[in-house]
Amino acid sequence: MKFFLDTVDIKALAPSVETGLIEGVTTNPSMMAQSRRPQREVILDICSLVKGPVSVEVIATDYTEIVREAHDLANLASNVVVKVPVTFDGIKACQKLHQEAIPVNATLCFSPLQALLAARAGATYVSPFMGRIDDCGQEGKELIASIRTLYDDDSSLETQILAASVRHAKHVLEAAYAGADIVTVTPQVFRSLYAHPLSDKGLEQFLKDWQAAQKT
Ligand code: G3P
Repeated sequence: MKFFLDTVDIKALAPSVETGLIEGVTTNPSMMAQSRRPQREVILDICSLVKGPVSVEVIATDYTEIVREAHDLANLASNVVVKVPVTFDGIKACQKLHQEAIPVNATLCFSPLQALLAARAGATYVSPFMGRIDDCGQEGKELIASIRTLYDDDSSLETQILAASVRHAKHVLEAAYAGADIVTVTPQVFRSLYAHPLSDKGLEQFLKDWQAAQKT
């Protein structure tokens, strides 16, 4: 499973990218709004920092406008992936963009059938929102496992499962076990993946023992 970062915060992005473990970035309109910066500037900054795919979501909701906006976004940088919602018009636009070789991330996915439609329409990625499903008392990991089964049963489907709306390290592990190809996490969740109290305690003891031996 690959790791993408779910953020528009350039300051938080840089240290994670420097690990060499971050292979892409995802964004959404809420994050863009919170950045209080022109979207074009944010996109160009991220695309210059990350060589991998950078997902940027359209605001338009009707087919014609989605396609027009997607062309504008795709023209900003060669690694832009256009995010479209898994609506009737969004998936129709996905089909058109696929025919034009513009990569699409089909987002706001909450059902296996939405994921199947997105894959049939040629989406490069589908983003099932694990956290928001768990927030409803259901199991986000089960959605990912169902999508994995549907995709594996049809060798013609090439869409990658990009687990999104990840709240914590447990979601990352659940996504991996359920068969996600990619997980997108906030910089905070990414950093938490390294942490374990016994690792910290063990390192502290190693260094303490080493230092004590230097004094004898
Ligand atoms: O950016 C897509 C997804 O990761 C959003 O997550 O936390 O708003 O449910 P969240």
